[in-house]
Amino acid sequence: MDDVGFYLGLARNASRSGLRALELAVGTGRVAIPLARAGIRVLGLDRSPAMLEVARRKAAGLEAIEFVEGNMASFSLDEKFGLIYIPARSFLLLTAVEDQKACLGCVREHLDADGRLALNFFNPDIPLMAAWMRSAGKGMQPARAVEFGARGGVLEWESRRYLTSTQQIDETRIEERLDAGGAVISRIYRKMGLRYVFRFEMEHLLRLCGFEVEALYGGFDFEPFTDASTEMVWVARPAAS
Ligand SMILES: C[S@@+](CC[C@H](N)C(=O)[O-])C[C@H]1O[C@@H](n2cnc3c(N)ncnc32)[C@H](O)[C@@H]1O
Repeated sequence: MDDVGFYLGLARNASRSGLRALELAVGTGRVAIPLARAGIRVLGLDRSPAMLEVARRKAAGLEAIEFVEGNMASFSLDEKFGLIYIPARSFLLLTAVEDQKACLGCVREHLDADGRLALNFFNPDIPLMAAWMRSAGKGMQPARAVEFGARGGVLEWESRRYLTSTQQIDETRIEERLDAGGAVISRIYRKMGLRYVFRFEMEHLLRLCGFEVEALYGGFDFEPFTDASTEMVWVARPAAS
């Protein structure tokens, strides 16, 4: 099963409460739109108006879905949800511990007492992180080249470094458009920061923010989390107070 099927299953269970599902960092609706097509009432939150514009266009005519602009670390909606989910590793985009806690705090406030939080992100890949540590300071490396013949081409460069002190990956990508003679006619810079979260760190974070871990899976087929798992798939519920 893929992530869409996994979140759809949880959303179906949660929808028995009559409450909507909330997707944080919904992007262009890759997960939320199929859920809405399957009859789930969903609200999608994202801080990017550009992503939301695409999502709204893709979802035109679907009544079960709505979108709202907001920050997953500081949202306030006058509604409780049966399921709040964060797919596609977006929780790792919160690079400060205060933001991670603020996000989980907002989720706790907006979750029904019988509701569920579900999210997935990478199991940190130690060999890969070590390689990024070794490549630190080596500057931009070629990542991809596409030739369009007489119409020129595209060259992509990237640099990644992993910082152990902050558990962060800093990634810079440059996309260069070339004319047929190989001269650069445009250059786009993209920067991205991710913060890796380790297994027990997440357990502690969840507890600290008022959740009980219901399950940690190693994938979307409910398989156990093991040394070989590349993904952590979490399901948590509000802790009994
Ligand atoms: C990888 S996309 C995920 C899209 C979608 N959830 C999916 O599964 O395809 C990450 C999204 O996170 C959004 N984002 C990043 N930081 C955010 C924040 N603090 N609050 C809300 N959205 C955020 C970005 O605008 C982007 O749309």
